Formats: sequence, structure tokens, C-alpha cells
Amino acid sequence: MNSFWLENINKIEGSGILENDTNADVCIIGAGICGLTTAYYLCKEGYRVIVIDKENIANGVTGHTTAKITSQHGLIYSYLSKEYGINFAKKYYEANEQAIKNIEEIIQKNSIECDFEKKNSYIYTEKEEELDKIKEEIEALKNISHLENFKAENIDLPFKTLGGVEFKNQAEFNPLKYIKGLVKYILNKKGRIYENTLCIDVKKENEEFTIFTETNKIYAKCVVIATQYPFIKIPGLYFLKMYQASSYVIGVQTNEKLPEGMYINVEEPKLSFRTAIDKEKNKILLIGGAGHKTGKKITYEETYGILEKRAKELYKDAKIKYKWSTRDAITLDKIPYIGELSSIYENMYVATGFNKWGMTSSNVAANIIVEKIKGNGSIYDEIFKARRFKPIENKGEVKNMIVDSVKGIIGDRIKSEKIEIDEIKNNSGGIVDIDGEKVGIYKNEEGKIYKIDPVCTHLGCILEWNDVDKTWDCPCHGSRFDKYGKNIYGPAIKNIKEKI
Ligand code: FES
Repeated sequence: MNSFWLENINKIEGSGILENDTNADVCIIGAGICGLTTAYYLCKEGYRVIVIDKENIANGVTGHTTAKITSQHGLIYSYLSKEYGINFAKKYYEANEQAIKNIEEIIQKNSIECDFEKKNSYIYTEKEEELDKIKEEIEALKNISHLENFKAENIDLPFKTLGGVEFKNQAEFNPLKYIKGLVKYILNKKGRIYENTLCIDVKKENEEFTIFTETNKIYAKCVVIATQYPFIKIPGLYFLKMYQASSYVIGVQTNEKLPEGMYINVEEPKLSFRTAIDKEKNKILLIGGAGHKTGKKITYEETYGILEKRAKELYKDAKIKYKWSTRDAITLDKIPYIGELSSIYENMYVATGFNKWGMTSSNVAANIIVEKIKGNGSIYDEIFKARRFKPIENKGEVKNMIVDSVKGIIGDRIKSEKIEIDEIKNNSGGIVDIDGEKVGIYKNEEGKIYKIDPVCTHLGCILEWNDVDKTWDCPCHGSRFDKYGKNIYGPAIKNIKEKI
């Protein structure tokens, strides 16, 4: 099933598929909200811009988000204040508050009809033992902004909450209607957006980049990697500094009154709530959450099941109209990576690791990168500096990542799966041993067998069968492939090999 956003909009048209070699001032790889916001600002400044994407416009994370425009990124401010100091936390807050204003300005200036609405955002708890975290966050926020009282007095959720943090004047919108407005502006300014155009490599010679697609070349002075998770391994080594998380969203219809704001809880499992309007003008409640590291073995009950159960507990007449999964790049220090990709390549930029808060983070990223391309600095450069290696000082998380990678590369190769082909049900999959070799099997609804080599084309980890979404997922850095082996999410870009 498509996401609520993709179901409720006609395809957004770009410039077709790239069919010739060409050139531009800036080539942006990734036509999601980050790449297109960057293209918007660059076109406004008169740059010749090309955006390419391996899929249709906004078909990745942007088409699957819950689209909350907020500077309330969980309990980030107590964490940042403790780890990096009040000034650092303050700048992070200001950058994201500015992003909310920037998005509103783009919408107003271009008369984009995207259901933009100012809303309050809440982080709440139902558990006594989490109340101290809420208090700490409110204390940290008092040092950051004296203008607001962040304590939530009454949270209009249909269950009892014990406390919460309120951010006023946040917003929500329909991200694809917004993207449609950006695309219209970019194309009007003679920017080009090529879809179904896969970038396979980027090289720099003299002062110019060559961006290789499967069939053509683009020559550009600057490159921006806005692919959610960078597909370039070296330089940058982002796969050592980030992992990917999957989460789930359902769209619920009910006749009962729905809450007005945007909400997320402190405790696990994380659940978030907001409403959205569908094509028939029905108000739909979006419940998101039940996240886990991508590539972990999971069941329906642990994912959509949690959300559906909650919906039915809250609304007796709840009808589940939509369900979809999404993914996010998570940094080890909870701060996005924005700026120069590495010290090796000047004029190559990256924006990634938005930690589930991509709406404001993508606007922050676009502004920082555009200022860099213009030759200026930004007061937020140091906060989001992409080249930092500080995250790997987070020894607990690094250890987890290494353990998962080693398991993915070595452990599972020697572990026998002990399942036989006959044990795999129709419309399901798994890895079996055939003559001492691991083979990925998918059986379609009629029992027809498709065989793949279950090795990730990024760095060679053994894939896991995901029976919830019917995909092959990589436990190392979160690449995903459809049931037949077609690459759907990076950092891998190649399809899995078929087994004959
Ligand atoms: Fe890196 Fe699979 S995503 S090895």
C-alpha cells in the first residue's frame, strides 16, 4: 500500500529521464525535500541546477514521512545542553525555528496550497518514571528561549498523560503538495529534475565533477548528495557514523473527535500522532512509530500490529485506511550531518542523518549548503558540520554498529539457517542452504520460487528477509531490496544478483 501522501496526489512531473550528457553549475543527487529545497534556493540565486533521482520525485522518505514541521526533536535540548552546552543547544533550536519560518515563507511567496497549518507540538509521557526527563527538558528550554513557557498544561489526547513539553507555533503540511510547489518553481526557473536516473559514481577532475548515471554524464562545479543516506563510501565513511531505522505509519478514519496538535511520547514503543486531510476531505489520524533498527527480524505484531491495537483501543470505530513503512538515517550523536562531504573533495556537499526530523532539518541543510556554494559561511556550520568524527566517541552505539556489521558479514554466513524450501509459505521468503550455499528464496502467492544471492551490494552483509514488508533488508547499514532483489533504498545502489 502506498503512503497516505502518495495515494492522495497525482504523480509530480519533472523533466523526464536524462538522455544526453549535459552540464550545470550544481548537480543535486536526490529529489526529496532536501534536494529540492536546495534546488529552490539555488534557482532563486540564478544558479543552473540539475536534480537527479533514481526514482520518481519525492518517492523516498519524503513521500513516507509524517511531515511534522517542528523544532521539537524529542528530548533533544536537555541532551544537547548537557553534552555541548547551552549555546550549542540554543543554536540548534534557532536553526530549526528559522526553518519553520522559511518553509512558511516559501509557501506564502509561491502560493503553494499544501494544507499548511500552524499547530502546537507535544512530547508527553504516560509513565511516572519518565516525568524527570520531561522536567529536565523544560529546564533546558528555559535557558534557550525566555519567550515561552514550555510546560504542557492540558494535552488533548484521548488518554491520560502525566506531563509534557509544549512547543507553540509549529506546523504541519502535506509534504507532496509542498514538493509540487517547489518543483513548479524550479522548472519555471529552468532548473531540471531528471527522474529514474540512477547516479552510479562521482569523480572530480581538475575543478569539475563528473556525475555518472547509468547512461550519461553530467558535468558540474558543485555536487550535493541529498540521498537520505549517502551512497558514496569513500571519502566520508558515513556508514561508520550512522545507521538506519525503520518505522511504521497507519492512517485511521473515525467518526470521533480527533486531537488538534502533533504528539509523540517519551517512552517505548514510540508513538506519534497528527491528522491530515485526504482527497475526499476526510480527516485522517496518522499514527506512527514502532521503530527498530533496519534489518532486525520483526513480526507484524511488533510493527503495524502495535499501531493498529492502539488505534482500536482509542477509537472503537477505527478503520485502518492506510499503512506504510518508512526509514530514517540516525546519527550517533543525534545531530544531522550537513556541509562538506569530506576534506578530500572541495565543493561536494552532503545532508544526511536527520534522525526522523527531516522537514525542518532539510530546510536547515538547504540554507547551509546554499550559503557554502555562494562562498559564504553560516552561523550553524559548526553545529551540523558533516566532517565531524565526534559521533564515533559514542562508544555504546559504535559497539552496537560494529557488532551488527560483524554479525552481518561473518556471523550469519557461518550460522546455518536450518530452514528448508518447503517450510517457506507462499508470499514469504527466507534463506536456505542449497548444496552448502546460502540462497535467498521468495515464493510468490502461487508458490513460484525466485532465488537471489542474499548478499548486500553495498558492503557484502548477509540480508534478512522482512516478512512484514516483503523485502530483503540489510542489518549493517539498512539498504533494502524488493522481494525480487531490486534495490529500493540505499546506501546500496545495485540490485541483488539472481541465483540460477
Ligand atoms: Fe552496507 Fe548492506 S547496507 S552492507
